[in-house]
Amino acid sequence: MFIDVHCHLTDDKLKGDLPRTVSEFKAAGVGRVINVGCCAESSAYAFKQAQEFPEIYFAAGLHPQELKDKDISEIYEIEKLCKAEKCVAVGEIGLDYYWDKTYCDKQKEFFLAQTELAYSLKLPLNIHVREAMGDAVKLIRDNKGKFCYGGVMHCFSGSRETARELLNLGLYISFGGSVTFKNSKTVKEVAAFVPKDRLLTETDGPYLAPEPLRGTVNSPKNVPIIAAKLAEIRGTSVEDIEIASEENAKRLFYGLK
Ligand code: NI
Repeated sequence: MFIDVHCHLTDDKLKGDLPRTVSEFKAAGVGRVINVGCCAESSAYAFKQAQEFPEIYFAAGLHPQELKDKDISEIYEIEKLCKAEKCVAVGEIGLDYYWDKTYCDKQKEFFLAQTELAYSLKLPLNIHVREAMGDAVKLIRDNKGKFCYGGVMHCFSGSRETARELLNLGLYISFGGSVTFKNSKTVKEVAAFVPKDRLLTETDGPYLAPEPLRGTVNSPKNVPIIAAKLAEIRGTSVEDIEIASEENAKRLFYGLK
């Protein structure tokens, strides 16, 4: 089966007709999705959606873009959700300096605190990094003991050298729609380079729809398009990518059944 390790079924564009979204992705061969929260409210909603469909698992976390007015105590809400049976990761967490560089230290504080939460609960991480790769790699390297249950760099946009360092730190690399974009030379280079046992697939729906659907509402049904592109780049079959990415997802997110 195909697996979407990072999507947002809680988003307004997808949550309205969830039964249809689920039947569409099942028909496309996508057997499991990890529905990722970005704040306490969306994480609670992701939990609720996971109770409704056996194919949906979830992750709870505070996204770096959501932190500006947040108090660290909100992590207690996340902790409660992380103890639910179908919570397979803490996320999405990380660093994002793209929109706003005025609270980078606060982002690091929350990233680290949520990493410690994951460590205490023996959960892997679903990590988002945008325009902050240097700081993210440093934080991971300096605290690598706390990353021992692993994690995925979602929608990875760094260089091959950065990918190599993160792989050495035990992390997995996940590819989404950007691997299909015409101008994504670096992402394609990384997709060719990542070892077969560290490769994952995602959509980040409703965002980042792959070619030739770019600009439409993305959803987990599009994972096979991404797998086909990975197969083309790596000179292998789609089935090979499907099998490897399922094994990898179930190894990393061990709660995924
Ligand atoms: Ni996301």
